Formats: sequence, structure tokens, C-alpha cells
Amino acid sequence: MSEGRGQWGSRLSFVLAAAGSAVGLGNMWKFPYITGMNGGGAFVLIYLVCILLVGLPIMIGEVLLGRMSQSSVVGTFPKLAGGPTPWAGVGWLGVATGVVILSYYSVVAGWSLHYVYLALTGGLDLGDAEAFGALFGETYSDPTVNLTYHTLFMLITAVIVVGGIQRGVERASRILMPLLLIMMTALLAYATTLDGFGDALDFVFGFHVESITGEAVLEALGHSFFTLSLGMGAMLTYGSYLSKRDDVIAVSVATTAVDTLVALMACLVLFPITFSAGMEASSGPGLVFINMPLAFDGLPGGHAWSVLFFVLLFFAALSSAISLLEVAAAFLIDERGWSRPKAVGLAAGLVFALGIPSALSGDATTMFGATDWIGERNWFDSFDYLASNWMLPLGGLGIAGFAAWRLGDRARRLSFAAGSAIGGIQGVYLAWLQLLRYVVPVAIVVVMLHALGLLEAVFG
Ligand code: TRP
Repeated sequence: MSEGRGQWGSRLSFVLAAAGSAVGLGNMWKFPYITGMNGGGAFVLIYLVCILLVGLPIMIGEVLLGRMSQSSVVGTFPKLAGGPTPWAGVGWLGVATGVVILSYYSVVAGWSLHYVYLALTGGLDLGDAEAFGALFGETYSDPTVNLTYHTLFMLITAVIVVGGIQRGVERASRILMPLLLIMMTALLAYATTLDGFGDALDFVFGFHVESITGEAVLEALGHSFFTLSLGMGAMLTYGSYLSKRDDVIAVSVATTAVDTLVALMACLVLFPITFSAGMEASSGPGLVFINMPLAFDGLPGGHAWSVLFFVLLFFAALSSAISLLEVAAAFLIDERGWSRPKAVGLAAGLVFALGIPSALSGDATTMFGATDWIGERNWFDSFDYLASNWMLPLGGLGIAGFAAWRLGDRARRLSFAAGSAIGGIQGVYLAWLQLLRYVVPVAIVVVMLHALGLLEAVFG
């Protein structure tokens, strides 16, 4: 392992960076709205089960593979297989997936920056739901706004990743993650004072069995992948900067726990506000960009809360974007021997270019907005669909398959135990391995069959 690759300064740094990757728009924007659309409590419970039985085993597997190989996601498979192997395709897929996801993630992240700007300049002084709906519509479809913030967001992300593991990623995470947790706590404290808090608690944690559907199970499973940053080697790449003495199990559990905590906190912030303002929990993707500023608008000091909230959303997106870019950068550095600035420059440039059609997707007058790409989806939706429904599950299947079936048992067992207090316990190891061998692949294959429309009869 070369000193030149970089390594985390401490175990806490890994957890902060990995949690920074995991906690993102998935937690703050998507989880509350899909929880709202799926009726609350039961969906949350199913999601927690998915995190525990599918997410956590893959998380441990990814971090473990990275720590074992000490290389990028492309280098990991040949290195651990002891030579050229078809499994290497999983690594290439991972790099491609990171590039695809970041290209549209950056556009959504840009909206959060735009809303910070609006909140600071009185642009969120609108009064009623219709006006906020219209504002979101305008933001979504304005090519200038989208291109400007997409450019800005990619520049900020690239500058941090150029800084390297310790000076860039680690330092940013050490500032961003604690700030994020403090801001979430402040918002949560405020939310507990609202009339709607009791209703929100019941909505999120009450077991509303009538709302369980097959569709909800699949959505919960798919989301547990995205929210934990699994399936494309982001956690694998971060794991490759761990030393052989680090405790893979402890850091994986900590990362998963922080991500889950923040997702639940986001619900307990959003729903009390939504209910207190007399709005519906099931209002969909607009929950964050329409309901939040609307709810804050009616409050004393409302604009300060809006600024706080959108800065928070921006931070969450930024630390996730860093991990997405690092996967491609690490590949170019490790496998191509490029310098970090050159590698990041090329990767970020490519992501930026691919993101331009996404930034223009809301405007039907440009070819990117008007044309149907996959089905009736515009470019933005096509990329999201491709990455979330196909590339991530496929990558997750490959990573779990390699770790559970291809890796030599002796090396795997030793590595699982290395540095960990509980990794040497036979039962813990076997439980993890069985989940990875059977439960994870079956779950993923079911999701993919559903995506192909082959399970309609079962899941309606
Ligand atoms: N987990 C992040 C979120 O919840 C997004 C993300 C970052 C991601 N890195 C990833 C998703 C890698 C999948 C794979 O917003």
C-alpha cells in the first residue's frame, strides 16, 4: 500500500466521511416524501428491516473489499481474484454509475443553492402554496438557473476532491457532518414545539398495517441501497483508505446508524411542519422545495429557518457528491497513474458535460427537455431511472456475489475478524455471510424482476 494513495487520519474520519456520503438528498428529500406517499409507519418499519438485512451486510462487504484490496473499485476485483477476471466488470460499472448519478444529483443539489440565495434575498416571501408551487416549477425549468448552479456545485465538489483524502474529503466531512447534525437537532427541537408533532410521531412510528403494499416493500428496498451509497463502490473506495487494523464492522454499523438516524430525524422535522401548516404528508417530491419554505414563511424569523434548512440540504448533497466523484478519481489515480488534479479535472469535466442535458431537462424548448429518452422520460429522469433501478442493484449484486462466493473463505474470514472485537465470533461471521449469499441476491433479483414488469401479478 503506497503512502501516495492517502489514508484516513482516524477511524472517526472514516465514519464522518462515509456518513457524509450516505446522508444526502436521499435522506432529506426523498425519504420523507416516499414515506409520506406510502402512508408512514409500516413503510418505515419495512425500510428499517431492509437496512438491517440487506443494507448493512452489503455495507460491511464493500468496506471489507476496499480495505482488503487497498485500491479503487476497478483495481479491487483483479487484485483480490489474483488476476484478470470477469468480475472486473463490476468495477467498471461502478465508475460509470458514479458519473451518471453525480451528473443529475448536481442539478438537484443546485436547487438547494438557489433556494439559499432566494431565502437570503427575500425571494421566498410568497405567502401561499400556489406561489411556492409556481416558484419550484420556474426553478425546475429555468435553463440559466440550472446551468449556473450545476456549474457552481461541480466546481465546489471538484475543488474539495482535488484536496485529497486527508486535506480535502476528510477535512470537509469533519466540518460538514457535525454542522449537519447540529442543524438537524435545532430543527428537530423546533419541530417538537409544534402542534403537529404528536400526529407526526404517530404517522412515522405508528404501525399502519393497512398501508403495506408489495410496491412499498420494493420501494423501501431500493431506497435502502441509494441512501447508504451502496452498489457502485463508493463505500468500497472509502474503505480502501482504511488501514488493516481498522474495525470494518464497527465503522459500517456506525455509518449505517447515522444514516438511518438522519432519515428518521428528517421525517420528524418535515411532518410536524407539514401537519401544523395543514398540508398533506403525501404531496410527493415537492415536500422539501414547496412545503418547507411555505411552512417557514408563516413563522416569525421564517427566513432564517429557510436559510438554515437549505444550507443543510446543500451540505448533505455536497458530502455525498464528494464520494461520487472520488470513485472515478481514485480509478484514474490508481489504475492510470494520473495526478489527483488531472484525474479530478477529467472526471468532473465529464460529469459536468453529462449533467448539462439534465440541467436543461425542465425546459421543453431545448432538445434535452423535449425529447423522450428512455420511455417517456426526459434525460434527467432517464438517468435517475437507469442508475437507481438498474446500475446500482446490478453493482450491488456483483459486489455481494464477489464477496460471498468468489473470495477465498480463509482470506475473507481473517479479514472480517481483523481489527474487530466481534468479527472473530463464528456466529457473527456466518450470519453476515449467509445474508450476503442468499438474502441479498434474492432481494435484488426480486427488485429487478419487478422493474422489468415481471412481478405485476404478485405486487400489483
Ligand atoms: N447516499 C446519498 C444520498 O442518500 C447519495 C449517494 C452518494 C449515493 N454516493 C452514492 C448513492 C453512491 C448511490 C451510490 O443522497
